[in-house]
Amino acid sequence: MRAVARIDLGAVRQNCARLKAELGEAELCAVVKADGYGHGDEACAEAALAGGATWLAVATAAEAERVGRRLAHVPLLTMGALAPEELDTALEAGSEVAVWRRGFLDLVAARARAHGRPARVHVKYDSGMGRLGSRDPKEVLDLLRACAESADLEPAGIWTHFATADEPESSFFAEQLDRFAPLAAAAKAELPAIVVHAANSAAVFRERRSHFDMARCGVAVYGLDPFQGDPAERGLRPALSLRSYVADVKSFDAGASAGYGQTWRAERDTCVGVLPLGYGDGVRRGLSSNAEVLIDGRRFPLVGTVSMDNVTVDLGPGTDIEPGAEAVLIGSQGGEAILAEDLAKRLGTINYEVTCGISARVPRVLA
Ligand SMILES: Cc1ncc(COP(=O)(O)O)c(C=O)c1O
Repeated sequence: MRAVARIDLGAVRQNCARLKAELGEAELCAVVKADGYGHGDEACAEAALAGGATWLAVATAAEAERVGRRLAHVPLLTMGALAPEELDTALEAGSEVAVWRRGFLDLVAARARAHGRPARVHVKYDSGMGRLGSRDPKEVLDLLRACAESADLEPAGIWTHFATADEPESSFFAEQLDRFAPLAAAAKAELPAIVVHAANSAAVFRERRSHFDMARCGVAVYGLDPFQGDPAERGLRPALSLRSYVADVKSFDAGASAGYGQTWRAERDTCVGVLPLGYGDGVRRGLSSNAEVLIDGRRFPLVGTVSMDNVTVDLGPGTDIEPGAEAVLIGSQGGEAILAEDLAKRLGTINYEVTCGISARVPRVLA
């Protein structure tokens, strides 16, 4: 196939079981926003549930609609801000919603009344992330009380999000936790049925005190390392591999160039393989002469500029690689492996962006 992202659902299942083992009694909410971090949301959601997740979370109403339609029986939280028309979509999908302002809570109540079903609300506290959520603990408690008093609302949760859980050196994580914990305890004392949640994947591995009633895990569900290291060190298995094939092999004389701008020239007589995928598929241009590709279980340098639809690989002089050979840009082949974390380092980014960036042009094939 030209380009394919193979998704190992067994790995997703196993990663969730690994997270569950870390969490003990606390529940696991699998975060499947952004099409499951580029892995495919619906199939990954099902695999996560099979691995022990009991909740799902998305960022947008459109995502809630997709996931909620397929998995109507599973508690689902839309974590992001919702414009009025998106709120309707999320509620119709059966999603629970995030609230941190009175005006929006009133809108949720009105729309829930129109839908004929109370809306379940998770009140968000901004303990230091500086994005969504109220910074005022009193406002958070007042919103939860307002939910409890309204026939159109149910207080479902109190939550926050960490800014530096993945930075072991940062003391800000403990600061956020210390702000959130007493507020969560006060809320829980008044409303014992609410779900307290704060931890992302990094926090789950970092600090048991952050687990509360539930953790919202994304990156680790897909076998990506929350700390940008080797996922295997935390017992995680990457679920995604990105594969293509050698469409052509041609001889290059020393000095001949490959690709736009002639940014690479053969230093010696050699053979160049052409793979029919490029930045149109999410192979970022920053990988131009800055990546390796696995072919026949061996590593070869990607050379020249990444085009929209092609990349070129230096196969060396007198190569035995033939057109049709499988090429792996992320994943393993033979005894070799290329991690999303490796590409992220080369690009100066994080593994999240590497897998989310694999474009819709690449079919996801489930295994
Ligand atoms: C609010 C919120 N909770 C949880 C997560 C999951 O985080 P991670 O993928 O690091 O586990 C995210 C993802 O960015 C998020 O935005």
